Amino acid sequence: MLRRLHPEQPESFAFSPANQKWAEAQITKYPEGRQASAVIPLLWRAQEQEGWLTRPAIEEVAKMLNMAPIRVIEVASFYFMFQLQPVGSVAHIQICGTLSCMICGAEDLIAVCREKIADKPHALSADGKFSWEEVECLGACANAPMAQIGKDYYEDLTADRLRGILDELAAGKVPVPGPQNGRYAAEPLSGLTSLTDHESGRTQYNASAQLAVDIGDTVKRIDGTEVPLLTPWLGKGGAKPAKPAAKPAAKPAAKTAAPKAAAKAEKPAAPVAAPAAVTAPAREKKPRTMAAPRKAGADDLKRISGVGPKLEGVLNELGFWHFDQIAKWTPEEIAWVDSRLKFKGRIERDDWIGQATKLAAEG
Ligand code: FES
Repeated sequence: MLRRLHPEQPESFAFSPANQKWAEAQITKYPEGRQASAVIPLLWRAQEQEGWLTRPAIEEVAKMLNMAPIRVIEVASFYFMFQLQPVGSVAHIQICGTLSCMICGAEDLIAVCREKIADKPHALSADGKFSWEEVECLGACANAPMAQIGKDYYEDLTADRLRGILDELAAGKVPVPGPQNGRYAAEPLSGLTSLTDHESGRTQYNASAQLAVDIGDTVKRIDGTEVPLLTPWLGKGGAKPAKPAAKPAAKPAAKTAAPKAAAKAEKPAAPVAAPAAVTAPAREKKPRTMAAPRKAGADDLKRISGVGPKLEGVLNELGFWHFDQIAKWTPEEIAWVDSRLKFKGRIERDDWIGQATKLAAEG
């Protein structure tokens, strides 16, 4: 498929202030002279913000990374995940058309897209709200046929259910992602015959769908305000303004000595020091816990973005029932709790302390 920049382009592009800060922070992840490594994250963020990659966005990313625009266009046009033409203002529907999905009814789903959105892929619907395309296997074959809508997967689809999903999206709702036929995850259609003991502690939806519901950004354009900007690799100083990318290293005069000297010269730079900050094991200290909630009852910890019913259960088991308990955690106490969670780093990534402080203040 020929992938070219769209003939109609907007005048300009600018990251939202929060996305700009995020992008500048990403650039600091890479050593001096290697800032071009941030090209894919930056392009992706531009697409998350606008829905598609415009020429001005590509040029802006090139400028930020001190790259020739053609080099950035090469990246954007190589990867199909980058949309080079406008997409629906509400959602872009990606129907998997590979073997399992094709056998299980992908053609019916594509027919719905043709009927309700536009006859041709990558064209906008009459109201501009939707667009669609057929994509290769998205790795959810056990739940075929399926579609990716925005950031999430809708599985076990039928033509009728896809029609319903499109109607709901058009009405401003976001249907719950995951299996659409009542299946929990990818278990046999006839139900589980073994490993049934997880049933009691399971979340309302499977882990992926639950996270999608908790985060709630399935079709949202990301403006950078969704989660706090965290830059653990920069240590306590936080994000520093991005330096313009260094020019390619001077040609090595002596093959043996030059690379070593260059490496030495780069050492004091922040990105090199950063891994120590990330990997240094934080000392742990057990926070004060409670055997049971206070008389008035436990707080609904699920109000903290990133905490679902399962995680709330884990926190309760550890002895945490109230927002004000979480709000008081010190870095050592965060390390203690973090080491007892399945997915480490989420306390800081999702800013539980900040969220809990606010919720505790609300009473
Ligand atoms: S064939 Fe459709 S997800 Fe794999």
